[in-house]
Amino acid sequence: MAKVIIFGVLDTAELAHYYLEHDSEHEVVAFSVNREYIQEESFRGLPLVAFEDVETIFPPSEFSFFAPMTGRNMNRNREAIYNEVKAKGYKFISYISSHATILDRKNVVGDNCFILEDNTIQPFTTVGNNVVMWSGNHIGHHGKIKDHVFFTSHVVMSGHCVIESYSFFGVNSTIRDYMTIAQGTLVGMASAITKDTEEWGIYIGNPAKKVPGKKSFEAY
Ligand SMILES: CC(C)(COP(=O)(O)OP(=O)(O)OC[C@H]1O[C@@H](n2cnc3c(N)ncnc32)[C@H](O)[C@@H]1OP(=O)(O)O)[C@@H](O)C(=O)NCCC(=O)NCCS
Repeated sequence: MAKVIIFGVLDTAELAHYYLEHDSEHEVVAFSVNREYIQEESFRGLPLVAFEDVETIFPPSEFSFFAPMTGRNMNRNREAIYNEVKAKGYKFISYISSHATILDRKNVVGDNCFILEDNTIQPFTTVGNNVVMWSGNHIGHHGKIKDHVFFTSHVVMSGHCVIESYSFFGVNSTIRDYMTIAQGTLVGMASAITKDTEEWGIYIGNPAKKVPGKKSFEAY
C-alpha cells in the first residue's frame, strides 16, 4: 500500500483517482500540477500542490507518484513528466484493474502503467514503463511492449509482436502476429497492420498503408 500523489487535474487524473479509490490498496493523498495551471487549492477534496515544490511537502521517501496522462505528442509529454518525477526521486505505482486478466501481475508490468478493465495480457508478454491500456484490449502472448506506449480500446495485438516506444494504437486497430511496430508508430482507428512499420509513421486502413509525407507527431 502506498500513499500516492496523482499528477494532473484533467479527465485522466480524475479517472485515476476514481480507480485507485475504488479498486486498489493505495491511498491518494494529493494532486499536483505545474504552478501555472493551479487555479484552486484542492481537487476532488484533496490538496492540489505545485509540482515545482511537491517534494518539500510530500517527500519521496514517504510518498509515491502516479502520472497517467493522454498520449498527445505521441506520448512524449507523458514521458517528460515521467522523467521529471523520477528525477525528484519518487517511485511510481502502477494500476492494473482487478477486472483485467493477467496471471502474473507483479512481474510483467513496469511502473506508472494504467491498465483498465477487460484488458487481457497473455503469458510471456512483458509491458514496459509508462504504458497505458485503456479498456478492453487483447494483448497476445510472447510479445514485448516497450516504454511510453498507448493502447486505446479494443486493440488486438497478436502473438509474438514487438512494440517499440512511443507507439499509439487507435480504437479497434489490429496487429498481425510476429510484427515489429517501430518507435513512434501511429496506427489509426480500425486499421490492420500486416507488415512491420517505419519509425514515426502513420498507418491507416485495412490492410494499413503508410500516410505519405506526414509524421505521427504532426497528427497526434
Ligand atoms: C489516423 C488519425 C490520427 C488521422 O488523423 P488526421 O491526421 O487528423 O486525419 P483526418 O481526420 O484529417 O483524415 C484524413 C483522411 O484520412 C481518413 N482517415 C482518418 N483516419 C482513418 C482511419 N483510421 N482509417 C481510414 N481512413 C482514415 C479520413 O477519412 C480522411 O480521408 P479524406 O481525405 O478522404 O477525407 C486519426 O484518424 C485516428 O485514427 N486517430 C485515432 C483516434 C482514436 O482511436 N481515438 C481514441 C480515443 S483516445
